[in-house]
Amino acid sequence: MAIKKHISHLLLQLLLVALILSFANGKGLKLGFYKKTCPRVEAIVKTTTASYISRAPSLAAPLLRMHFHDCFVRVIDILALVARDAIQQGVVWSPDRLLAWIKRPAWPVSLGRRDGRVSNVSESLTLPSPASNITQLKSAFASRGLSVKDLVVLSGGHTVGTSPCSSIATRLYNFTGKGDTDPSLESNYVTQLKSKCKPNDKTTVIGMDGSFRSFDDDYYTFVLKKRGLFQSDSALLNDKKTSAYVKRQAQSHGSKFFNDFKDSMVKWVKLEF
Ligand code: HEM
Ligand SMILES: *[C@@H]1O[C@H](CO)[C@@H](O)[C@H](O)[C@H]1NC(C)=O
Ligand SMILES: *[C@@H]1O[C@H](CO)[C@@H](O)[C@H](O)[C@H]1NC(C)=O
Ligand SMILES: *[C@@H]1O[C@H](CO)[C@@H](O)[C@H](O)[C@H]1NC(C)=O
Repeated sequence: MAIKKHISHLLLQLLLVALILSFANGKGLKLGFYKKTCPRVEAIVKTTTASYISRAPSLAAPLLRMHFHDCFVRVIDILALVARDAIQQGVVWSPDRLLAWIKRPAWPVSLGRRDGRVSNVSESLTLPSPASNITQLKSAFASRGLSVKDLVVLSGGHTVGTSPCSSIATRLYNFTGKGDTDPSLESNYVTQLKSKCKPNDKTTVIGMDGSFRSFDDDYYTFVLKKRGLFQSDSALLNDKKTSAYVKRQAQSHGSKFFNDFKDSMVKWVKLEF
C-alpha cells in the first residue's frame, strides 16, 4: 500500500506533463492549471500511470528520459513518444530496488501546455548527443536558458536507466576511426563494457551507472572515476565549474544533489519555446 502511494506520487510528478499534454507552448503554465476545468485529471493520470508502473517499474527511467530528452525540442506527437519509449524492454525490479528508486527527488510540475503544431527537423540538431563535448553541452543548455550548473545537475539524471550498446559503440571500438577506445575511460571499466557490448551489438542494453536501478548520487562518483558512460558524461570533468560540482557531490555523497535536481527540473519544466 505504502509502495503504491509512493509510486503514485512519483508518477504524478514525472508524468503529468508527459502524458496528457505536450510541450510546444509554455506560456501561462502554472500549478493546478486544470483545477477548475478538469479537477480530477491529475488524480486520473496518477492512478492510471501508477497501475502501469507498479507492473513495470523500469518504465520510470524511460519516462524521466522522455521528460528531458524528447522535450529538448518541441514535442508534436506525444503519444508516439510514449509508445516508443514504453516498448523499450525493461528489467524486473525487486521491491527493494523499487523502494530505492522511489527515494528520488520530487518536484512540482506546472501545467497548461498546448499541443505542438510545429515539427522542424533542423531544430532537433540542437539536441546534445552522447558524443558532445563540454563546449557543445554548455551551449545546448545555454540555448534553452539553462546554466552550467543545470547541466551538471541534470546530467545526474543518468543515475537511473539503461542505454543501448549502440550509443557507446564508437567510444568503445572506433573512437578516432582507427579501431581504438576513448582514452578518457578507465581501463577496467572498458573491459567490463566490452564484455557486455560486442561490436555491432544492436540488442543489449547496459546500466547508466553502477546502481542504475536507484536514483542516488552514485552518478558523480562514477563520472569522477572516469566511468561516465557517454562522452557527454565524462565531459563534465573538462570544465572548472562542472568538475568542481562532480567532485563535491562524489565526496559528500550527494549532499546537495537531490535539492539541486529538484530546482533544475522545476526550471526545465517551465521552459518556453
Ligand atoms: C546532457 C546531455 C544528455 C545527453 C547527451 C544524453 C544522452 C542519453 C543517451 C544517448 C541515452 C541512452 C538512451 C538512448 O540512446 O536513447 C540516455 C538515457 C537516459 N537519459 Fe540522457 N542525456 C542527456 C541528459 C539527460 C538529462 C538532463 C536527463 C534527466 C534529467 C536524462 C535522463 C536519462 C535517463 C533516465 C536515461 C535512461 C533511459 C532508459 O532507461 O530507457 N538525460 N541519455
Ligand atoms: C526550422 O527551424 C530553423 C531553425 O530555427 C529555421 O531557420 C527554419 O526556418 C524552420 N523551418 C520551418 C519550416 O519552420
Ligand atoms: C567540441 O566540438 C566542436 C565541434 O566538433 C569543436 O569545434 C570544438 O573544438 C570542441 N571543443 C572542445 C573543447 O573539445
Ligand atoms: C571506423 O571508423 C572509420 C572512420 O570513420 C571507418 O572508415 C571504419 O569503417 C570504422 N570501422 C568500423 C569497424 O566500424
